[in-house]
Amino acid sequence: MSLYENLLLNLENGILIITINRADKLNALNIDTIKEIKAAIQQVYDDPAVKGAIFIGAGEKAFVAGADISEIAELSDVNARGFAERGQEVFSMIERCTKPVIAAVNGFALGGGCELAMACHMRVASESARFGQPEVNLGLIPGYGGTQRLTQLIGKGKAMELMMTADMIGAAEAKALGLVNHVVPAVELMPKCMEILSKILTKAPLAIGLVIDCVNAVYDKDEDGYQTEANSFARCCSSEDFVEGTNAFLEKRKAVFKGA
Ligand code: COA
Repeated sequence: MSLYENLLLNLENGILIITINRADKLNALNIDTIKEIKAAIQQVYDDPAVKGAIFIGAGEKAFVAGADISEIAELSDVNARGFAERGQEVFSMIERCTKPVIAAVNGFALGGGCELAMACHMRVASESARFGQPEVNLGLIPGYGGTQRLTQLIGKGKAMELMMTADMIGAAEAKALGLVNHVVPAVELMPKCMEILSKILTKAPLAIGLVIDCVNAVYDKDEDGYQTEANSFARCCSSEDFVEGTNAFLEKRKAVFKGA
């Protein structure tokens, strides 16, 4: 029996495709789904056969239409902090994963869905994708990192506007704001994500992981990002892949990286 009731996992050419599979609820994130996402991302960390991951929603309509409102409605001030912190922890695991993770946004990415997409290292959207943080409609605010990551990605003024108006924006506006990297027709969504990841997977894996660490360090108040960069640069220079990469260039051949 599969470990997962709310996710479908598929390994294709080293890329773990993680499908949020509650299409009848527009893939809303209930607590069980959050736990399963944690297990799936742990698998990305631990399984050497997994080199990168893609999150997508089941069905035609939604990536993820938010946290499950039927569960949220039961929250009180006693359990709400833990609810937010547990979600934040899982999304931070995605953000800090040293293997590349892409969100393939194939429809509504609202509330926790927009937050899940923003925790990924980059976002590719289909033309029909819609983004928003509509929590104020429910008397709430984003709780899975949305106030922080939306501001990081699109800047303070626009983030304030989207979170205070609860407006939804389409894929083209999301791209103009820097919220998504690419917008493609729906049929090209997975091929585009696969193309980007396949390209990344030809590079030195250690260097890719260190790029992720260094970019994340920009937003970590306890870290000196320049120091992290210098340390990471030095770490690369002691790797076998650095010797291979530089030799391959000088010998005019394609580098073959081992991830060591
Ligand atoms: N939590 C729980 N269930 C959700 C949900 C969510 N975040 N979003 C959608 N659903 C459920 C609906 O209740 C409905 O279930 P039902 O068929 O059992 O009644 C089903 O998914 C389909 O949604 P529906 O609202 O009928 O689709 P729609 O096309 O009319 O509207 C949306 C789509 C996305 C605009 C609308 O579903 C919506 O506003 N969802 C909530 C978005 C939100 O506020 N997210 C932030 C939560 S913190």
